[in-house]
Amino acid sequence: MQRLGMHVDDIRTDLNEDGPPNAPGQIARAVVLLRSGGVVAFPTETVYGLGADATNDDALRRIFSIKGRPADHPLIVHLAASVQIRDWARDIPSAAYALAERFWPGPLTLILRRRAWVSALVTGGQETIGLRVPAHPVALELLSAFGGGVAAPSANRFGRVSPTSAEHVRQELGDGPDMILEGGACSVGIESTIVSLIDGDPVILRPGGISPVALEQVTGRKVARPGIPQTVRVPGTMASHYAPAAPLRLVGAANLPDIAARLAAKGKRAAIMALSGYRSTTGQTVAMPPEPAAYGYDLYAVIRMLDSGQHDAILVETPPQTEAWLAVNDRLQRASGS
Ligand code: TXA
Ligand code: MG
Repeated sequence: MQRLGMHVDDIRTDLNEDGPPNAPGQIARAVVLLRSGGVVAFPTETVYGLGADATNDDALRRIFSIKGRPADHPLIVHLAASVQIRDWARDIPSAAYALAERFWPGPLTLILRRRAWVSALVTGGQETIGLRVPAHPVALELLSAFGGGVAAPSANRFGRVSPTSAEHVRQELGDGPDMILEGGACSVGIESTIVSLIDGDPVILRPGGISPVALEQVTGRKVARPGIPQTVRVPGTMASHYAPAAPLRLVGAANLPDIAARLAAKGKRAAIMALSGYRSTTGQTVAMPPEPAAYGYDLYAVIRMLDSGQHDAILVETPPQTEAWLAVNDRLQRASGS
């Protein structure tokens, strides 16, 4: 297919093809698998998760082995309803209830003090736990039918771009999971906002679909932005976490033509994710959406497509450095390893 200079809308169906809906009985089968220690990949509104019963250490170990993820990285526990947070957390501050009330189901993870019995495989050996009620009908149906907490990291191999369709999960993990539930393309497309409510004012540990200002409006408190040195360890937020195989470089609009030309002169095939009207004459250009939510929706699917072997580099036109672009800029910086 000739993709030079195509708009991302033209390739979206190609990127995020919805698979067939889940056959009747699939949720029931997934619940049986979870209850017997199985690992089930499932859709959420952010990215696909690789889920297991959060009280079953053998099942949790399988998540780490399928992903190739170091054992000290904590897992988010997914719940069907916010009342369940009391089963997992203690000393819950009122801000947590306010945020849950406003944003759940939705792309927000709350870091709270864990109950004593919670497995160290979930908490990464820390005193805290991450909890979230996802806003996806298939996830909610699964969680309600299961009844308990489902621990789930993003369903990608460690260090790779998160999957935003069931097809991406199959590409990433093959037949590692016992089952992959279908749920179409994820409507948010980047991982949840993680907010720590452990000491004092709320702190954003990972930016996402819920903005700092929205968090401040609900809590009535100052919310610390990411980037400030943290006392809480967030292993998955190391610099090069989302790296594609082809080097990804952030480039200002003014420098794009020059850098693209230099790479072309060296015989390197560079793909470009553009925001301005820039179109490469030598390689594939994807015109990214000019609005941050739409950009986030496309981000991982576009990186995945451009990283499938036919390019030596991905040049990304730097988005505006404003708070609206916080989550997108965060993921781009990690993908570029800077
Ligand atoms: O949107 C999402 O959050 C997706 C979907 C599947 O829910 N999940 C996700 O999980 O992104 P994962 O494991 O790929 O990233 C979770 C991040 C990691 O950086 C982990 O270190 C951090 O959350 N985390 C989990 N529990 C934590 C805790 N108790 N304290 C600090 N960070 C925690
Ligand atoms: Mg992840």
